[in-house]
Amino acid sequence: MCGIVGCIGQQNLIPFLLESLEKLEYRGYDSAGIAVHNGDNIEIYKAQGKLENLKNLLNDTFKNDKNLKSGIGHIRWATHGAPNQINAHPHSSFEEKVSIVHNGIIENYKELKKELTEKGFEFKSQTDTEVIAHLLEDCIKDENNYSNAIRTALKKLDGAYALGIIFKDNPEILYAARKCAPLILGVGEDSNFIASDVPALLDYTKRVIYLEDNQIAVIKGSSYQIMDIDGNILDKKPEILPWEPVTISKMGYKHFMLKEIHEQPDVIRQTLFDKLHTVSDPLVLKEVKLTKETLEQLDRIQIIACGTSLHAALVGKYLIEEFTGIPVDVEASSEYIYKRTVISKNSITIGVSQSGETADTLTAIRQAKDNGSHVLVITNRPDSTMARQADSMIPVNAGFEVSVAATKSYSAQLMAFYLLAIYLAEVKNTLSEEYIEDLKKELIQLPQKIEMILSNKDKIQDCAVKFHNTKNFIYIARGINYPVALEGALKLKEISYINATGYPAGELKHGPIAMLDETIPVLAILVPGKVYEKVLSNSEESKARNANMIAVTSEDNEHLEAVFDYIITIPRTNEVFSPILTTIPLQLLAYYIAEFLGKDIDQPRNLAKSVTVE
Ligand code: AGP
Repeated sequence: MCGIVGCIGQQNLIPFLLESLEKLEYRGYDSAGIAVHNGDNIEIYKAQGKLENLKNLLNDTFKNDKNLKSGIGHIRWATHGAPNQINAHPHSSFEEKVSIVHNGIIENYKELKKELTEKGFEFKSQTDTEVIAHLLEDCIKDENNYSNAIRTALKKLDGAYALGIIFKDNPEILYAARKCAPLILGVGEDSNFIASDVPALLDYTKRVIYLEDNQIAVIKGSSYQIMDIDGNILDKKPEILPWEPVTISKMGYKHFMLKEIHEQPDVIRQTLFDKLHTVSDPLVLKEVKLTKETLEQLDRIQIIACGTSLHAALVGKYLIEEFTGIPVDVEASSEYIYKRTVISKNSITIGVSQSGETADTLTAIRQAKDNGSHVLVITNRPDSTMARQADSMIPVNAGFEVSVAATKSYSAQLMAFYLLAIYLAEVKNTLSEEYIEDLKKELIQLPQKIEMILSNKDKIQDCAVKFHNTKNFIYIARGINYPVALEGALKLKEISYINATGYPAGELKHGPIAMLDETIPVLAILVPGKVYEKVLSNSEESKARNANMIAVTSEDNEHLEAVFDYIITIPRTNEVFSPILTTIPLQLLAYYIAEFLGKDIDQPRNLAKSVTVE
């Protein structure tokens, strides 16, 4: 969460800070701020709310000032202290000698605050970050140079940080430091940059250095030096990014979420492109670096993820167990990291993360790796910290996802699990060749089937009109579609703020059915296969309690019409592939309900796209 940027030597300093912050808005949007060095002093501008408010605060003369020396910027997702102007970054030290922007959490800030207060430092904000500014000022008094002062201060911090630092009396240098939060140094011609993520820099340079934990960058306009926390100078060369600048455009759609929902057929084609060549050839997963021997002996898999990625992982569990018989455990990363790490002998660990930066998942895969497990990461960001730390990877190629609510990256993650499960079945010989060919044929048809759903949204919109004022929503399914029910409920909660819960359909009668009456819609996912009849009878039980019934199904028959008030039909497919299709109406339903309610769909309150705090 939070995004930081910084720059030195750039004539168009303010445009850089504002444009690059805009590229990081997905990381938080509670407040925004910049600090610029004008050669004599540090000027600070902050605004509560979205970046737009900060932009409106700055006049054109200032925005075009070519004489500014250096600057830092921040976009906030509040952790400590309300999202107001005082708590917005940058934060300055007591005598205003230091200004900083920070992403991360300082765990021992209360102790440090007490020590600094006793020394006479006065605090203005409720943030953990402010202690770093005062601490730096305190350390400069005792040290003969700025990087020594930074190293001394950093050694006193527990927790996570990506920092951009400027000093009033040292206008020619911008400092940066990282521990457990992403930070990149961008190397330009006569200017250098820092940012939390690559898209912020692509318009300015493609030469970047990914800073690692406990590294400090001392950055001038035309040179830089990287050192470790003990002051040893490190030889780090920039790498050239293969990407073009990211154009953030809604392409005519009202929201990024709607655009991203509509991109899913192409995302799936793209995922299959270099991995599934013909139905009779084995799948190619070239970034999976498991030896034949490891694969043959593989007898257990654990998957760790959060949020939507966790729901993709639950579908993955079902698939791998179904196709290979290998037992799979799935756990929320935030739970995994506070238990004993148990790695069985012939097992691997899979981390799933769109961003590849989610703190809980990052810590979890580090723990698994430290305990000897091979770590395979399924991610949309092959340049992320997670991808860099993993032994193997399945890149999901969903493209840049702007909307905070994950849609196309989820479908791409599901595809990664289909490919992995079939790949394992091929290597371990657990399915017949004919069945594998049938599966591959069905996979290829999925994009077209999604297009059919996307071209017929009337029923979904009708449901949204009818239920947008509902206070509680229930989603039920069984088997491989149970995680889809969880995901549908999460999507609705995230963007409409309506209370929605996903249940295994068979669990309703063990408690939740008590809530049902005519005010509660129950959305059931039922496709032909192992559990169709069971979900149907659980739906009948709900209908008998006067619930409003909605079906997402590939069937259309009189029996369904008797039970359901609304029937949303999807094309037929093998039950194992149905999550790819059943997900789409649920994403659209959440979208249209939130739209009717006039919610901020792409940037829902209290959320951020990349959750880099535990
Ligand atoms: C999805 O709509 C959410 N924004 C959220 O649950 C997200 O999936 C979760 O934070 C995990 O993120 P990751 O995939 O980047 O690790």
